[in-house]
Amino acid sequence: MKKQTIIVTGAASGIGKGIAKYFLDRGDNVVINSVTPSSLEKTYNEFGAGDNLAMFAGDVSNKQTGEQLVKIALEKFGSVDVLVNNAGIFDSKPFLEVDEAYLDKFLTTNFKGTYFTTQSAISQMLKQKDGVVINIGTPLVNHGLGGWPASAPVSSKGAIHALTIQLAAEFGRQNIRVNTVAPGVIRTPMHGDKSDLSAGLHLLNRVGEVDDVAEMVYTVAKSTFITVSIINVDGGKGAGHNLN
Ligand SMILES: NC(=O)c1ccc[n+]([C@@H]2O[C@H](COP(=O)([O-])OP(=O)(O)OC[C@H]3O[C@@H](n4cnc5c(N)ncnc54)[C@H](OP(=O)(O)O)[C@@H]3O)[C@@H](O)[C@H]2O)c1
Repeated sequence: MKKQTIIVTGAASGIGKGIAKYFLDRGDNVVINSVTPSSLEKTYNEFGAGDNLAMFAGDVSNKQTGEQLVKIALEKFGSVDVLVNNAGIFDSKPFLEVDEAYLDKFLTTNFKGTYFTTQSAISQMLKQKDGVVINIGTPLVNHGLGGWPASAPVSSKGAIHALTIQLAAEFGRQNIRVNTVAPGVIRTPMHGDKSDLSAGLHLLNRVGEVDDVAEMVYTVAKSTFITVSIINVDGGKGAGHNLN
């Protein structure tokens, strides 16, 4: 298997941390990012601060963060083979209570963060004529869930799904692949200790684990022929749910 250099945003916690570890454990080079320097440093040390690892703390919605991540990957490892746009926020608020500041929070972190980090990575991937961008979306983009209002985060993720299709079309001829992995409810700090309350939303009647997602991201990264795919890793949540 070809050794790759992977940039993972939002890698100090939850799914991003699991993805970074999955690649590191299999011998790839990983550049981790998150917004809070102390959390990122803690993860960097927990991962052993080895030669295969680099870090940069910064808000992904700031274009310079993506530029720095690419610069570090090139200086330390010589290429940017995979970008995983995982950094993101999610929350619930009834539609009629959403104001501009609240909506902007999701559009800025989730959508603009993915957009501009990808811009930095693709400008390097074009020089390599090789690369893959893997976004983290949600099956809720195509499957309405009553009782948990989330128009702001879901629409910001919808924009990421649309961006996936558009960029895969714009850059396919240059051998740049763009895909989205859409997880069901995954046991991460985002849910506190409440993850299992959502088990019934999945046909498998359980929530997912971080490695369920990491394994798919790894498979997509190592493939050479998967592009423009929106891949649900969701225990069947996007298609149906149990009546408990
Ligand atoms: N967990 C689920 O059930 C689930 C389901 C579907 C999709 N997702 C998506 O999966 C991704 C990860 O979720 P998670 O559950 O692992 O969340 P999490 O445990 O809350 O971790 C989120 C990570 O993103 C980082 N982050 C937040 N805003 C950022 C910004 N502006 N710039 C850079 N980093 C930022 C955080 O940084 P700090 O640690 O420094 O604060 C943290 O490391 C998100 O995009 C989420 O929407 C999650």
